[in-house]
Parts: sequence; C-alpha cells; structure tokens
Amino acid sequence: MKEQLEAIRKAALEAVAGPQATADLEALRVKYLGKKGELTALLKQMGGLSAELRPVMGQLANEVRAELEAAIENQAGLLERKAMEARLENEALDVTIPGKKVRMGHKHPMYSVLDEIKDIFIALGFEILDGPEVELADYNFTKLNTPADHPAREWSDTFYLTEDSNVLLRTQTSNMQIRAMESRELPIRVLSPGRVYRKDEVDATHSPMFHQIEGIVVDKGVTMGDLKGTLNAVIRRIYGENTVTRFRPHHFPFTEPSCEMDIQCHKCGGVGCPTCKGEGWIEVLGAGMVHPKVLQNCGIDPEVYSGFAFGMGLERLALGQYKISDMRLIFENDVRFLEQF
Ligand code: DAH
Repeated sequence: MKEQLEAIRKAALEAVAGPQATADLEALRVKYLGKKGELTALLKQMGGLSAELRPVMGQLANEVRAELEAAIENQAGLLERKAMEARLENEALDVTIPGKKVRMGHKHPMYSVLDEIKDIFIALGFEILDGPEVELADYNFTKLNTPADHPAREWSDTFYLTEDSNVLLRTQTSNMQIRAMESRELPIRVLSPGRVYRKDEVDATHSPMFHQIEGIVVDKGVTMGDLKGTLNAVIRRIYGENTVTRFRPHHFPFTEPSCEMDIQCHKCGGVGCPTCKGEGWIEVLGAGMVHPKVLQNCGIDPEVYSGFAFGMGLERLALGQYKISDMRLIFENDVRFLEQF
C-alpha cells in the first residue's frame, strides 16, 4: 500500500503542475481526491490492513491528501494570476496612440446676431420674454387693433389651424406686446424674439418661416423721443457708432403714430448701390407709439400710461451683418456654409 500511495503522490503532483486551464485542474482534483478518486479508493482498502500498519498507512494517506490539496490550490492560484496578467496586458492603454479628433460645433450665425442684440437690450433693462408660435387670432390681430376684415388676416397670407380662423401660426411677434402687457406689472420693458409664419414662396429674401424681434416699453410719460433715442442707441451698437438713421412715417394698426426706421447704406454711404437697391437707405424696423386702443385692450389707461413698440426681422439683420446674399443659406444648414462664420 505504501508503494501505491507513493505512486499516487508522485503521479498526482506531477500532473497537477501541468494544467493551464482551471477546468483541467478540477478534473485532476476529481481524479485523485474525488469520491471515486484513486486516493479515496485506496483508503477504502485500509480496513484490510493489520492493526500496526493501519495507523501508519492512515497517516501517510492523510499526508498525501494534504500535499495534493495544497498543490492543487497553489496551481489554481497560479492560473488565476496568469489569467489576470493576460487580461491586464490585453486591456493595456497605449497613451501614445493619437486620439480621435472631436469636431467642435459652433453657434449658427443668426443666433450669434440674436445673442448680441439680446445683450444690448438686457443692458438697457429689458426682460426677454418667450411666447407661443401657435396663437389665438385675438392676440395676433384683434387685440392689436387689427379688425376682422383687415387684409393681413386673409387666408391667403396666414396659416390658420382652425376653420373658424381663431387659431393660427403667428404672423408677427407683435402678439407678445399683448402678452407682455397682460402678464406683467407696469412699467414694462420687454424684448421678445421668435419665429413667425406667413404664406410666402421661398426666394432669396422670403421664407414661410422667419424670425422677428419684438420690443415694447410701457410706462408713464413715454414719448416718441424715447422711441428714437432707444432705437438709435441700439442700432449704433449693432451697425457702428457713426451709423446715420432716419425715421419715416408709416402705418401699423397697433401703433399711432407709426414709423419705419432706415439706416444709411453702409456700403455706399447713401449714394445708391446694389446693397441698398439704389435707395441709399436700408429699412431695419417698424415701430411706433402703442395705440391707445391697444393699451385699453390690455386694461391699461392711455390717459396715464404710454409706450412704444418696435419689430425687426432677424434674418435681414444677420444677412447684413455677415454680408450673406441669400436668406435660404441661413435655413439650409449646410455645414460647409455655416463653418465660415
Ligand atoms: N409686426 C410688424 C410687422 O410684422 C412690425 C412692427 C411694426 C412691430 C411696428 C411693432 C411696431 O411693434 O410697433 O411688419
């Protein structure tokens, strides 16, 4: 029996040092130490030994078992470390490989212009107010003193969303005059940029969707002088301190008196050129003193309060600022175009 035990010890220890996979090592453990293993089978024969031999062989068998168990554990640890090393090697980070370049985007040129204008008005104490593009005809027209039979309300010009012509895509940001007066405590100084919609064919200067920037100031004692002073200051911040401006009489239903503001053509200095279409002047906005009826429609007493309002097209400003000749380029969002700014 001693020889058998020694043989198992020798063979098993040799075998155990061999396997490179955990499953093979486990198979060896079963082969020698398992219930039907070689060592176990040998131990079962112990009963047939003499009383002197039994304890000696028993001790030897236990030694062999302990030695084998230790060897298996040792080998398992070895395999585990090897596996870990292999994993670490595979996952190794090579910091010398050049990185993937992240392509940086940037602001759309029109929004750069808008942000600049917002900053100018915020510095003057204006609040920026956002409003709905789907609007009630009441806010887009009626409360703005634009009667039901006014040509601007035609179905041919306006995108109506209901048969009864009560809900529409706003045609102007002037709806925000009403919303500002209804939602704010007086006095108010509000700037409201946003999208507007009209049934216009697309060409170099028209689009069925474009942006306007509306402004309204209502307080006690506001005059046409405040309108001119404010708008002159703003336009000079945008176009340069030496910009020459003029105010021309005009008509809007919601202002009285109404005007349009022109700047002298910065390209030709007023002589006339393609940029100003030979006029020498370029129209930049519509404005006026808020009509007393509009104030009344918002529950404001025109005997106590007065105000001025203005509206300008954002695309036209951006086109002028960046010398872009076609409005379609602003909306197409071709990165080859946008990357230039
Ligand atoms: N809403 C006008 C338009 O779309 C522009 C405008 C004119 C706005 C005069 C105003 C204003 O606030 O006072 O043509």
